[in-house]
Amino acid sequence: VAHTTQAFPLDDYNVVKITRAGFRSSTVDNVAVTPKVMQLEMDLEQIELGRFDHFMQKEIYEQPASLRNTMRGRLQRQDGKVVLGGLANFAKELTKAKRVTLAAQGTALHAAMIGEYMLEDLAKVPAVAEYASEFRYRNPIIEDGTVIVAVSQSGETADTLAALSEAKDRGALSLGVINVVGSTIARETDAGVYLRVGPEIGVASTKAFTGQVAVLAMITLFMARRRYMSPDQCSRFIEELEAIPEKIERVVQHDAAIRKVAERYCERENWLFLGRGYNYPTALEGALKLKEISYIHAEGMPAAEMKHGPIALISDGMPAVFIANKGRQYDKVLNNIAEVRARGGHIIAVATEGDHEIKKVAEEVLYVPDIV
Ligand code: BG6
Repeated sequence: VAHTTQAFPLDDYNVVKITRAGFRSSTVDNVAVTPKVMQLEMDLEQIELGRFDHFMQKEIYEQPASLRNTMRGRLQRQDGKVVLGGLANFAKELTKAKRVTLAAQGTALHAAMIGEYMLEDLAKVPAVAEYASEFRYRNPIIEDGTVIVAVSQSGETADTLAALSEAKDRGALSLGVINVVGSTIARETDAGVYLRVGPEIGVASTKAFTGQVAVLAMITLFMARRRYMSPDQCSRFIEELEAIPEKIERVVQHDAAIRKVAERYCERENWLFLGRGYNYPTALEGALKLKEISYIHAEGMPAAEMKHGPIALISDGMPAVFIANKGRQYDKVLNNIAEVRARGGHIIAVATEGDHEIKKVAEEVLYVPDIV
């Protein structure tokens, strides 16, 4: 970006020859190809560290702004409507869709799992999130009316691309939930919605994850409104979505308290991350982050699954992070907390602001604002 604002992607089996006089692109059989030159919209500031120690930290703090960008111009609260230009031509197919398969890897898979829950819960369409690496090899059944959604920050993850091609070959409509404009997956899909969170330089995904969840929420509302949801209901969801960036601003202000908890427990070698419902994929994502960034062993799982075996691993003082927001399954989560405490585990609860009761059962509490 410091050197040019123009770029073009090379398609498969294309080559480019660069000389002092210029460049020529062609197929490997030497048939000339006119390059589709894109204008890069990044600015230098986006890829500089600024006041932060590292890119992952910068990208965590960027989330309020990146999410505002993701949602800008796409939500019409007054009319209870979501406008996604990238999907406009396929609105009919999405209204009639019989099944949605979301394929992804790593963090993107965790976002896809939240998408799966939202699509079933709100758009009332059967949905499943799958490891792209498994989907591509398991001879999947693609019935008429199946939509494949490839979720990927980079748009280049090989397994996700292969799963997409497999589903397309079997007749699925393909959508991309991608960050990098012009990436291979973005080019291979029939339609899609870009994340618009800006370049993610840290290897471990952060702002792309929240961007993916936001885009999947908007796709869900886009479909739900055309299927079962009233404009009023949709406006209420839009209102909540629009309030999220400000709520994240409040969460990052707790960084000193979060750091203290991290310092207290950083020598522990085994961690559990537990949650139920929408917070189950969040727990998986927490465990993945700890593994990938701190090289500490962590397991994420549905809170209720823990008692079916993994509970045997809980030893005295073992940290167990519970995503314990107030909500439908709160009481059940409290039961699971009690089970871990009985074995001597130390509870680090991520709880809803104002929930003082949780302090009675948790060694540490990190608060997040309420979200309906
Ligand atoms: C992994 C990264 O290699 O790829 C993860 O470490 C990421 O953070 C995963 O989620 C998938 O990448 P992408 O670009 O398809 O979202």
